[in-house]
Amino acid sequence: MKFIKVKNYEQMSRQAANIISAQVIIKPDSVLGLATGSTPIGTYKQLIKWCQKGDVDFSEVTSVNLDEYVGLDIENDQSYRYFMNTNFFDSINIKKENTYVPNGKADNLEEECANYDAFIKSIGGIDLQLLGIGLDGHIGFNEPADCFEKNTHVVDLHESTIKANARFFESVDDVPKKAVTMGMVSIMQAKKILLIANGKNKEEILNKALFGPITPEIPASILQLHPDITVIFSEE
Ligand code: PGA
Repeated sequence: MKFIKVKNYEQMSRQAANIISAQVIIKPDSVLGLATGSTPIGTYKQLIKWCQKGDVDFSEVTSVNLDEYVGLDIENDQSYRYFMNTNFFDSINIKKENTYVPNGKADNLEEECANYDAFIKSIGGIDLQLLGIGLDGHIGFNEPADCFEKNTHVVDLHESTIKANARFFESVDDVPKKAVTMGMVSIMQAKKILLIANGKNKEEILNKALFGPITPEIPASILQLHPDITVIFSEE
């Protein structure tokens, strides 16, 4: 594991954007696994700048996102599809049809989950997976549980996740209670993983996840088994 500690959010974002750019420059048709949340917004902003200057080209990239709320329309400004479009895809030269986010409004969610995994496999898996980490140690929406969930699945969000995400909704009651999330197989089979975390409040869970026992009670702890993971942490 490569652990990089930086001073602030801006440095974390630049370093993460550097790693993602390098990936796309070396392999223009990379499959990028992407994440939502407040942590990656700065990384996306930096990548947008470089793309608009012509320094990085996303025209051959395919992206697969980690997760989506169940029941939100894609036009809903809290859906993760909307987040990705407005924070990243609309401002770079990626082909929208090559961007994939699980469909949380699918009639048959189980089929949607199975298809998502099959699709990722069919395009050769993920080259670089970007991850944030939740305060409870979740990655994607893989919440603490008795076992690691292997496949893309529907998950009941934990109370702490609902509370943490309430800041984006009018009230805590508006936060969806379920989500579709990529499981551990697609994440762990990514050729490279880039985990970014920002803020003093993430330090304790990050230490537990990266240096404590590997347990499904801290889903991110499984990342210790990945052969090529870079972690960038900013404590400010
Ligand atoms: P955050 O969320 O980036 O908004 O802190 C991270 C996560 O829950 O995975």
